[in-house]
Amino acid sequence: MPTSPADPLTPRPAVTIPDFARWKLLGRKISVLTAYDHTSARLLDSAGVDCLLVGDTLGMVVQGRETTLHVTLDQMIYHTEMVARGATRALVVGDFPFGSYESSVERAVASGVRFLKETRCQAVKLEGGRRAAPAIRALVGAGVPVMGHVGLTPQSVHKLGGYKVQRDAEALLDEAAAVAEAGAFAVVLECVPAEAAARITAALAIPTIGIGAGPGCDGQVLVTPDLLGLFEGFRPRFVRHYAELADVIRDAAARYVADVGEGRFPDDRESFH
Ligand code: KIV
Repeated sequence: MPTSPADPLTPRPAVTIPDFARWKLLGRKISVLTAYDHTSARLLDSAGVDCLLVGDTLGMVVQGRETTLHVTLDQMIYHTEMVARGATRALVVGDFPFGSYESSVERAVASGVRFLKETRCQAVKLEGGRRAAPAIRALVGAGVPVMGHVGLTPQSVHKLGGYKVQRDAEALLDEAAAVAEAGAFAVVLECVPAEAAARITAALAIPTIGIGAGPGCDGQVLVTPDLLGLFEGFRPRFVRHYAELADVIRDAAARYVADVGEGRFPDDRESFH
C-alpha cells in the first residue's frame, strides 16, 4: 500500500549529512525547523521535516530572554538530547551557544564532542564566517559535521547594532565561501537580500539554508513557534504563520477554566468509581 512520506508509521532511512550534498545537486529543497523538546521533535519529525535545529533561539522562545546570549552549553545539551530522542528520520543539529567556541579551536572541538557524545545529534551549528573557519576546520577534522551561519548572526547583535538585514553582498559571499572551504556541510543565510542569497547559493557547492533570505536558497529554516503563530507581538517580515496556536491555546485554557469554575470538569466518565 503506498504511504505518504509524512506517515509516522512508514519506516524511513534517517537523513544523513551526505544527503544534503546530494539534494543540492538534485535541486531538492531542504526543510529545516527549530525544535526544543521531545514532544514537538516527534511531531515535526513525523511531518517529514528534513532537519531539526535545536537553535539557541530557545533563549528567546523558551526562556523568554531578549537575546540568545544567556544560553549555556549545558542548556543546549539538555534540549538537544530530548530532541534527538524524538527524531527518527530528521537530521538533528545542535547549536553552539555564545561563549562555547570562540576562544579557541580546542574549546570548539570540546563543545562539539560533548554535543555528539551526550545528545546523539548528528551535527552542530555555529555562527560566523571567515573568523569561524579555523573552528569549523578543526571540528570537521575531529569528525563533527558543521552547519555554518552567516548574515545576521544574532550572537553578534550588539556588534551589528541590532537585528538588521545584512546588505554587503561581497562580504556575505566571502564569509559564506570561507565557511564552505573550511568544510561545513551547509550554511544558514539569515536576513540577507534575496539576490545576494541566490548569488551565494549559485557559487557554493554546499546547500544554503535561508531565513529571511528569499526563495533562491537550497533550503529554508523557520523558528517553529513563529511558524505556529505562538507569538503575537513581533512578527518579522520573513515569517509565515502556518497556524495560529496562540488563539487555540488561549481558547482551550479559557474553556477549561470555565468548565472547572462551573463544575463541568471532570464529568462521570472522567472519574474513577
Ligand atoms: O538559533 C536558531 O534558531 C537559529 C535559526 C534562526 C537559524 O539560528
